[in-house]
Amino acid sequence: LRQIKVEDDDFGLMTYDPAYTNTASCRSAITYIDGDKGILEYRGYPIEQLAEQATFLEVAYLLIFGELPTKDELDEWTHAITTHTFVHENVKSFVEGFRYDAHPMGMLQASVAALSTFYPEAKKIDDEQVRYEQIVRLIAKVPTLAAFAYRHAKGMPYVYPDNDLNYAENFLGMLFKIAELKYDADPRIAKALDVLLILHADHEQNCSTSAVRSVGSSQVDPYSAVAAGVGALYGPLHGGANQSVLEMLQRIESVENVPGFIDGVKNGNERLMGFGHRVYKNFDPRAKIIKKAVDDVFEATGTTNPLLDVAQELERIALEDDYFVKRKLYPNVDFYSGLIYEALGLPVEMFTVLFAIGRTPGWVAQWLEMVDDKEQKIARPRQIYTGARGRDYVPLDQRG
Ligand code: ACO
Repeated sequence: LRQIKVEDDDFGLMTYDPAYTNTASCRSAITYIDGDKGILEYRGYPIEQLAEQATFLEVAYLLIFGELPTKDELDEWTHAITTHTFVHENVKSFVEGFRYDAHPMGMLQASVAALSTFYPEAKKIDDEQVRYEQIVRLIAKVPTLAAFAYRHAKGMPYVYPDNDLNYAENFLGMLFKIAELKYDADPRIAKALDVLLILHADHEQNCSTSAVRSVGSSQVDPYSAVAAGVGALYGPLHGGANQSVLEMLQRIESVENVPGFIDGVKNGNERLMGFGHRVYKNFDPRAKIIKKAVDDVFEATGTTNPLLDVAQELERIALEDDYFVKRKLYPNVDFYSGLIYEALGLPVEMFTVLFAIGRTPGWVAQWLEMVDDKEQKIARPRQIYTGARGRDYVPLDQRG
């Protein structure tokens, strides 16, 4: 916008857009979203094709380097990630210091931030090789930290990574392996998890990614920037929504209670969690893919869950109800993901952690793009000041 300044003491013109609903904070070539048409593309490739045909590490490569890897590039990338999954033993002690009931997102945020102290060279963000090493470390170590957080809450010994397994299998093993027993992940479950990670891998300038970019624009190391992203993701309106969805389904309990609950939502008593999106105003393409993954996981685990019926009834009623139709509210990525995580045997506190693992390549890709952007200065919005001006200090004994 052109700044209009008539007098020297005029403030000039500025945009006021507190939730950035109409403000582009950057130029980006990573993720394309058309919210009206329900399109999501990573580097130009539709999410539907990537979810069906690619692996999570392949997608991570695509997001970060801009192109699908060749076979050799993918092998090298996978090798780099799988050989950096271990964390320093002191990180383990650090995780051990948390209260037994600490929320795993709090633990993850703190332990990701702590990595910056283990790799002080990470502050050399202009050095391409140093940047590459930190990117590899982040993608490799976040699942290890997440699994440690889970085992900590369970009071179970931590399981070290197994570099012979693929990314999803290794994570499942670190979560669920019992003592010396061999843990063989069901390939259908590992695949469903991989798909979920792909669906969460990036979503342009969402709250957590904006936090990563904003903090990273101060030229801090990438661990500190990504830790800010984990903090933003923790919030119930962002990544915390999948936990809230499951808690909501548990409260509704049965299909008969759905109409009453919907009435409460329409009366403004609460929100239908897992519905609505700032950008998608037609449908969330990720929600469609997840619905299929739900069936695969339930088949693999041989479980049924009455909450799935509750979710389907909520969706059925909401999609026909004027309140939701008028406001363009549809199921988002979080509506069904919690049911999958629950079928995997994960407690609700871990749901957002899974989201964080998936989102890490996106955060890192966006951080890298931001660091390379010559137009990027330190993020520093202005404000519309609404307070008092020019007051004289009143000594304490003269106040009141
Ligand atoms: N349930 C009921 N009503 C809703 C919901 C909902 N889930 N979401 C929005 N609305 C209503 C609002 O009350 C408002 O109605 P009004 O015009 O009568 O006041 C209207 O729809 C517009 O809502 P906003 O809050 O302005 O929409 P916004 O784009 O800011 O919010 C958000 C998007 C935060 C995702 C919102 O839809 C929401 O809170 N959803 C539930 C939480 C959730 O599922 N979050 C996950 C998002 S996806 C992700 O982070 C990966």
